[in-house]
Amino acid sequence: MAAWSPDSWKSRPKAQAIAYDDPAELEAAVRTLRRLPPLVTSWEIEQLKAQLAQAQRGERFVLQGGDCAETLDDCAPDSIAAKLKILLQMSMVLIHGGKRPVTRVGRFAGQYAKPRSKPTEVRDGVELPNYFGDLVNRPDFTARARRADPQLLVEGYKHAGLTLNFIRSLTKSGFADLHHPEYWDLSFMASAKLSGALRAEYQRIVDEVTRALDFMEAVGERSVAQLSRVEFYTSHEGLNLHYESAQTRTVPRRRGWYDLSTHLPWIGERTRQLDGAHVEFFRGVRNPVGVKLGPSTTPEEVLRLLDVLNPQDEPGKIVLITRMGATRARAALGPIVARVRDEGRPVLWMSDPMHGNTVSTPSGLKTRDFDAILQELEEVMAVHEEAGTYLGGVHFELTGDDVTECTGGAQALTAADLERNYTSVCDPRLNYQQALEMSFRIARRMPSR
Ligand code: PEP
Ligand code: CO
Repeated sequence: MAAWSPDSWKSRPKAQAIAYDDPAELEAAVRTLRRLPPLVTSWEIEQLKAQLAQAQRGERFVLQGGDCAETLDDCAPDSIAAKLKILLQMSMVLIHGGKRPVTRVGRFAGQYAKPRSKPTEVRDGVELPNYFGDLVNRPDFTARARRADPQLLVEGYKHAGLTLNFIRSLTKSGFADLHHPEYWDLSFMASAKLSGALRAEYQRIVDEVTRALDFMEAVGERSVAQLSRVEFYTSHEGLNLHYESAQTRTVPRRRGWYDLSTHLPWIGERTRQLDGAHVEFFRGVRNPVGVKLGPSTTPEEVLRLLDVLNPQDEPGKIVLITRMGATRARAALGPIVARVRDEGRPVLWMSDPMHGNTVSTPSGLKTRDFDAILQELEEVMAVHEEAGTYLGGVHFELTGDDVTECTGGAQALTAADLERNYTSVCDPRLNYQQALEMSFRIARRMPSR
């Protein structure tokens, strides 16, 4: 294999390439990014890799979630705190369900670049570049807003840094004050749509989690927040390789290169070509790397990806995030899981039950139904149960806010409700109540240790 460098991806075919119109302006932005401090450290990355290795062995579970497209405007205290809160609460429910530690990974502090199925968008006969996320251009439908602006690479970096700074401060300062039951908003449990049996089970989980937290608090001298040292890792799709490579560095006393823009970058379904730029770039970094796998993926393709991305079979290195769709999960995933298992390759199996289940409403809004999401999760759990493999994590598009983007759940949102508060600039997210309810549904199905 040819030598790797942070720039060797440039000679490969580039899926989802951005047409920057001024190379000098792009180079200036990249130079700025190269000079600025890293957002994360190699030490944190190695720590996460060790946790992912535990998850691969069935000793831990991973919860990954956040916006589909994080925006620069999302860099606001309420929105960040709400995201931490929902991830934290879901993780407590999952810890209870699986009797294992849970690693929390946010789709935040850099989830600003979006792949699109079409390079342009046409409205009323006017054709403009599509919106590729706030790292590239802006959503307004004007030529000016849709121009790929290299300065946004620097803006994205800065907002990622500000977001991360707030997250680090909150988690260090006892934000995670979970033992107050009133901190949990459980109003959805009163819904008439919820069967008596489910409601009772949810209540039991809440009571047990609360009691466990009270107990920990009672036996410890410090608060639960301090005891549990709540940690969040960051992740984003490593789509814009100008951004990723500019922050990829060597560090003292460690071998190899680290992408210091995030702990866990992943390669998207549209950019995982074996000979493509993204696989070339990510084969050279020491970070753990996720790969999204859609329903057309073959077992052979997955093995070749593992050969390139993890030739030494390093534990904790590879996260396979499957996103097949509820109706295709069983047929598409079964052969892949069996083959990777038989070859003895160390991977962490995660399920993204969102991206294979997107539908459009008659009025043209993208949505996903709670039951379809749940169904994919159940199919995936069944596949792993049958194969004797371990589903070690789940990946959601969610928000801590009260949006109306996905239908269903105990709140029983319908297509007609969606217009009320649909704020995603890309894919529909579970709202706070739906996300919390989803964690209850997963918890009751998790294999206990
Ligand atoms: C995403 O995670 O928002 C995304 C675009 O996913 P995928 O690559 O799986 O389609
Ligand atoms: Co998405």
